[in-house]
Amino acid sequence: MSRSTVASLVVVISAAVLLLHPMAQAATRSSTIVLKSEKITLPFGQLQFPGKGPGAAIANTHCAMCHSRGFIDTQPPLSHAAWKAEVQKMMSALGCPLKPDQTADLINFLYDYNHRPKQGAPGQ
Ligand code: HEC
Repeated sequence: MSRSTVASLVVVISAAVLLLHPMAQAATRSSTIVLKSEKITLPFGQLQFPGKGPGAAIANTHCAMCHSRGFIDTQPPLSHAAWKAEVQKMMSALGCPLKPDQTADLINFLYDYNHRPKQGAPGQ
């Protein structure tokens, strides 16, 4: 057998082994999965903070950019200092892009919002 015939045989056998290999078959089978989009409505993730003051506007743009209002709605009554620490954490540890001159209005808003009279379920 010539060298080129041996080389051709090696190529053919390698291709056959690859095609028959269970991993190759799994890859072929997985290509038949059909993906389809589903629309789901989450309980209160799309709610905006109420109010027209500067604090509400900042909360809607800067706090709701990563997570829902629910993270704030589900907090127990917190002190002013605790909200200040929470805002600092969101800025320094998590990257909330607040400007330093926005924090005072925001912290006042969060404190008032957190201590508002509540009716019904969180987020209402
Ligand atoms: C860059 C993304 C991002 C932004 C912007 C952001 N947060 Fe968060 N926030 C997170 C993540 C992530 C967690 C969950 C952290 C954890 O589990 O420790 C979180 C958790 C929270 C919690 C739950 C308590 C806690 O500390 O884990 C509160 C309250 C909160 N955020 C308030 C705010 C407020 C108020 C703002 C606006 C100033 C804000 N977040 C902006 C990412 C963000």
